[in-house]
Amino acid sequence: MTAKKNFLDAMKFRHACKLFDKTKKISKANQNYILELGRLSPSSMGLEQWKFVVIEDKDTNQLLQEACYNQPQVGTASFNVIILAKVEELKPGSKYLENILQRYGINKEKRRNRYEQFYHQIKDIKSWGVAQCHIAAANMMTGAAFIGIDSCPIGGFDSDKVKRLLKLKLKYQEVALIISFGHRAKDAPKKMRLSFDEVVEFY
Ligand SMILES: Cc1cc2nc3c(=O)[nH]c(=O)nc-3n(C[C@H](O)[C@H](O)[C@H](O)COP(=O)(O)O)c2cc1C
Repeated sequence: MTAKKNFLDAMKFRHACKLFDKTKKISKANQNYILELGRLSPSSMGLEQWKFVVIEDKDTNQLLQEACYNQPQVGTASFNVIILAKVEELKPGSKYLENILQRYGINKEKRRNRYEQFYHQIKDIKSWGVAQCHIAAANMMTGAAFIGIDSCPIGGFDSDKVKRLLKLKLKYQEVALIISFGHRAKDAPKKMRLSFDEVVEFY
């Protein structure tokens, strides 16, 4: 019962924090814990098609804020995680995929064939990758809330500007989402959600 209550409390504690207290830094241990939750997240076909780029330097956070339509939670965050969805590395035959396939030992060939068929059926490889990144993002935010750390998911960014900031080759990766982490500067607003009956249907 306590575990359930604690988890629900964390879900209620988490909100899209619009401004962080700049004086409150998140420890390295807690930062690593949050990133570990991303790493352990599930992904379609187990491809882990993400990269977590951590920005913790004050000036770079400020530059990132400018690439996020000047949203102040980005610049005041203790750190930001830019989640990149892999695109180029998902092409059949890539070094990245070969490395992942090594895990499957004698089933490697079966897995490779299955993936190649699947790859050619997917119409939008970027959106597929971005969807996986959002799952990792949710786990990081909920896990952070569980230990009293605030966050804000940032989908409002200029992708080209973020890529320029990271000096990324444009077509190789897609910026999926940015998450700002820190401690709230103000109380959270009241949580607004549709009722259980409006969102759940027992068929
Ligand atoms: C994919 C995604 C992108 C979002 N982008 C932004 C954003 O750019 N800026 C922002 O302030 N909130 C952003 N949000 C937060 C939502 O606005 C927020 O979660 C929603 O209004 C519900 O509020 P709550 O999270 O505080 O309960 C985003 C949320 C998601 C899931």
